Amino acid sequence: MACLAMPVAVVSMVDQAGGWHGATLGSVVSLSLDPPLVMFAVGRGTGVHRPLCGSDRFCISILGAGQRAVAEQFAGAAAGRFARGIVPVGGIPAVGAAACWLVCGRSRLVEAGDHTIVIGSVEDVRPGTGGSLVYHGRRYHRLSGALSGAEQDAELGSSGQAELVVGAL
Ligand SMILES: Cc1cc2nc3c(=O)[nH]c(=O)nc-3n(C[C@H](O)[C@H](O)[C@H](O)COP(=O)(O)O)c2cc1C
Repeated sequence: MACLAMPVAVVSMVDQAGGWHGATLGSVVSLSLDPPLVMFAVGRGTGVHRPLCGSDRFCISILGAGQRAVAEQFAGAAAGRFARGIVPVGGIPAVGAAACWLVCGRSRLVEAGDHTIVIGSVEDVRPGTGGSLVYHGRRYHRLSGALSGAEQDAELGSSGQAELVVGAL
């Protein structure tokens, strides 16, 4: 899977007892435009599986290029994940200064291997600033610029696909 470039997001929610839960996930994907749906996959063996799959509402913070440390924070010890840099987004604790926030309601769960796919209905999109953080080849990257128009035309002409230019952090 290391050859797949993925976004880096923090999915967060509040449980019925008021507890905060969240984790760094690379599996966030735009699924449908009409209606607007997104999805992510959460491992059944993880501590966040139960709260994230049981949540009616959650926030997806798409991390910015300078937020590698936040990605590590939300992939590390659960106790320290919300220690700093948290802002409320739609009433849900989310990552401050993210590239974008999506406030979602849960639409569906689909079991898939050792993960559960959570499909969320997008209720609100809040753009932040700056480019996104990308994870590829077990390393974090920042987007280093779109291909020029001529390069995109050449790429599309030869292979039918444009190429994403990334630079390692
Ligand atoms: C870049 C990156 C992407 C990740 N993507 C996922 C993912 O899509 N699904 C998942 O279940 N865990 C993913 N993880 C692992 C989680 O962040 C976290 O470590 C996992 O939920 C275990 O923590 P927990 O048991 O305390 O919940 C990813 C970690 C990193 C660093």
